[in-house]
Amino acid sequence: ITLRIISIVIGYALGLFPTGYIFGKANHIDIREHGSGNVGMTNALRTLGLKAGAITFIGDAGKAIIAILIIYLAFRESQPGMVKDLQLYAGLGAVLGHNFPFYFKFKGGKGIACTAGVLIAFFPPMIPVCIGLFFVIVIITRYVSVGSMAILISFFVQLIIYGQLGFFHVEYDSLLIEMYILGAIFMILGIARHKANIIRLKNGTENKFSLHKKDKG
Ligand code: G3P
Repeated sequence: ITLRIISIVIGYALGLFPTGYIFGKANHIDIREHGSGNVGMTNALRTLGLKAGAITFIGDAGKAIIAILIIYLAFRESQPGMVKDLQLYAGLGAVLGHNFPFYFKFKGGKGIACTAGVLIAFFPPMIPVCIGLFFVIVIITRYVSVGSMAILISFFVQLIIYGQLGFFHVEYDSLLIEMYILGAIFMILGIARHKANIIRLKNGTENKFSLHKKDKG
């Protein structure tokens, strides 16, 4: 249990880095007062343009990647049968730090770029389906939030598929179950963070993605 807590705490600490907010400040705005009010990639892109979106994505995905790499390097030798679980705990910690930063009264982002970082560092073979689904959905519906939720669901489903196929080399089956539970937490937490988007989708008022429209709430 100690190793799990250490992994979450390291992830949380890294997840606190507010890329979108800092980029906003560098451009003399508080990104939380613009667009959807979110500090994530989509709103940075919507409010400040392509470069801001790209940098926010790199920063937010990067912090999850770094957290997972640190755990890998720290525990791959001492805990080879458990390191995959610990990596996932660190990734979850990063998402928690991003979504619930204490210095913003726990009001942070939605954790999608962070989750993409988890996918990249944890098990890259999951990326094509997640990213493919995301782009197909966003191109068809123009709702980034729907694409984001599809990433979360496909992450969870693929975690179970690859886990059952024996790709994660865990020591005990219970560690596999634990991974699935973590995957479910990622999914439920991420979808819950999209509550405002879901309400807007139901009302038909959700933002449609466009590179030209800026600052639409
Ligand atoms: O990654 C966040 C995205 O799913 C929605 O962002 O700004 O439209 O609420 P936003």
